[in-house]
Amino acid sequence: MTATTPQHPTAPEEARRTAQAPQAPQAPQAPQAPEGTEMIHPGPQVLDKAWVADWKEQEERAGADLEGYWARRAAELEWSEPWTAVLEDSEAPFYRWFVGGRTNIVTNAVDRHLTNAHRNKLALIWVGEDVEQVRTFSYFDLGIEVERMANVLKAMGVGKGDVVTIYLPRIPEVFFAMLACAKLGAVHSVVFAGYSSEALGARIDDSESKVVITADGSWVNGKVFPLKRIVDEAVRFSPTVQNVIVVRNTGSEVVMDPIRDHWYHELCKLPIAKGRCETVQVDAEDPLFILYTSGSTGRPKAILHSHGGYMVGTYVTLHDCFDIHDEDRWWCTSDPGWITGHSYLVYGPLLNGATVFMYEGNPTFPYPDRWWNLIERYGITSFYTAPTAIRTLMRFGEAWVRRHDLSSLRLLGSVGEPLNPEAWRWFHHVVGADRCPIIDTWWQTETGMFQITTVPSMPQKPGAAGRPVFGQEAAVVDEEGREVPDGVEGHLVLKRPWPAMMRTLYRDPQRYVDTYWSRYPGMYLTGDSAKRDADGWFWIIGRTDDVIKVSGHRLGTAEIESALVSHPAVAEAAAIGLPHEVKGHAVHVAVILATGVEPSRQLEAELRQHVAATLSPIAKPESFDFPESLPKTRSGKILRRVLRARALGQDEGDLSTLDGD
Ligand code: PRX
Repeated sequence: MTATTPQHPTAPEEARRTAQAPQAPQAPQAPQAPEGTEMIHPGPQVLDKAWVADWKEQEERAGADLEGYWARRAAELEWSEPWTAVLEDSEAPFYRWFVGGRTNIVTNAVDRHLTNAHRNKLALIWVGEDVEQVRTFSYFDLGIEVERMANVLKAMGVGKGDVVTIYLPRIPEVFFAMLACAKLGAVHSVVFAGYSSEALGARIDDSESKVVITADGSWVNGKVFPLKRIVDEAVRFSPTVQNVIVVRNTGSEVVMDPIRDHWYHELCKLPIAKGRCETVQVDAEDPLFILYTSGSTGRPKAILHSHGGYMVGTYVTLHDCFDIHDEDRWWCTSDPGWITGHSYLVYGPLLNGATVFMYEGNPTFPYPDRWWNLIERYGITSFYTAPTAIRTLMRFGEAWVRRHDLSSLRLLGSVGEPLNPEAWRWFHHVVGADRCPIIDTWWQTETGMFQITTVPSMPQKPGAAGRPVFGQEAAVVDEEGREVPDGVEGHLVLKRPWPAMMRTLYRDPQRYVDTYWSRYPGMYLTGDSAKRDADGWFWIIGRTDDVIKVSGHRLGTAEIESALVSHPAVAEAAAIGLPHEVKGHAVHVAVILATGVEPSRQLEAELRQHVAATLSPIAKPESFDFPESLPKTRSGKILRRVLRARALGQDEGDLSTLDGD
């Protein structure tokens, strides 16, 4: 079931020293502008494999008959009961898809491959941070692993509708755990294994999870990150958690509670883990998972996705936009803790019967050619990553890429934030040798699947995301909801429902309506600003709300602020995002100190550490300001635009609403 390959040779010591000294930062990112009339057309090797040859025809057809389009696509998958209605909108915005249909995402992601030629195909190739560690699983093996994990969960009393929290690093068990929950009709809540115990604890409590699945630790740049210890702290006061399953990964020492905690490898030896475990057939609208993400206000939102629509949406979009074929090796570098990991590392590829590649480590450790090395060694054909990673690797120079043969690559992809034209060109030219289209996919945790992107047969525009996916209609509107002319920036909205749309916010349906559907009735508010150009390509500019995208990670300003004010030196804090040449945006904070506390470099370091420990290292502030007071409206709302202008040394604009002015 598992195999080990020899370690791939690493870069020589001399090159390693070069790696420590990245090139000088590039000039700050130029803002996206829709002047871009430059179109790059796909070559014959791309067109030969394109599932969608005539995209204009597909776009028109799906646009003219939304339900017919999705019914046709859903019929490519297996259902134990057919649906009676494709789309039910009588209670919009609580849309329902494939109403009356019964299936299970696992029926289509795993089970159906066991009866055809995919049975012996590799489902997963996993490589550890120590690249000597390799584990591979055929679809048959995956079926067994999922069944085993499902049996264990079932024995712990997990059944339909129960929430299981998964706090695992990028190791195969994260696949087994997610799929095992789905198989039983349980609901998984994956928490990124870089969140602090406080953040994890809040998510466990909010979802009332009975079981937590974790590992002893994870490898981060050669060091162990103590996952189990974080779980111990998180569940200390949790009234709901009865069992913690611990996967042995790093071999580090952990404290095990004799009643609550169980080693996974020991559970697997017990009779409870053995035998068949049927995939429970569920209603298309039954919940599949919740995933917490940051919003404008303090509390993270639990986005709820369901089995049927999410399954159809992720299957179709990956199939069409990345032309998945049997000979492909698909690598999505996202962590399973984010929506990209859910939709396009785990579910979408398996629904397509693809071979998935997963790497445990980071791209620059121990050398900045680790990814290029793996692409060469494992013959990756389709490589989907984030702009921040591309910009990071770009700074190390192209020599690191050039030392590897990347000729297996056919398609590249990007997600998480705008891919600026300079990074686009580097990725296209240096990594893709000018022959691989870059599929820039705009979407969100809430949308579940791509919304604005291209299929490979479409021309590419460096810096633009592309066009709405088939069946979708997007628009750029002003404050009143009127469409603005092409080339003018405005609020990005989506005008039609889509199968993988979130169904609600878990236990907070009113917030779902208020946040996404109230501002412009009948239109989904994305929270992003964008421009459309005369050709109909959308250029995403960035968030318009209090969400900051730092290295593609989504953070709420309120979460960072509440982490800061929990430090005794801080009386009040305001966080904003400032442009950053590699991260896209970086966190800048204005902090009002408690009486008698003086600003210092040491205090900044302490506050950074405090945010890392109470929220996550990804939320660490990059820069600090210690003003006497914060600019606020009369009603007490922090004027972030003024803070931004101050931090950037720009004109502060109209201050007439400022408190006391
Ligand atoms: O601002 C947009 C940005 O990421 C936000 C969604 O973040 P999250 O829910 O974490 O999901 C990220 C992965 C799907 C969006 O509102 N974003 C995502 N993809 C792109 C993007 N911005 C520009 N271009 C993209 N391709």
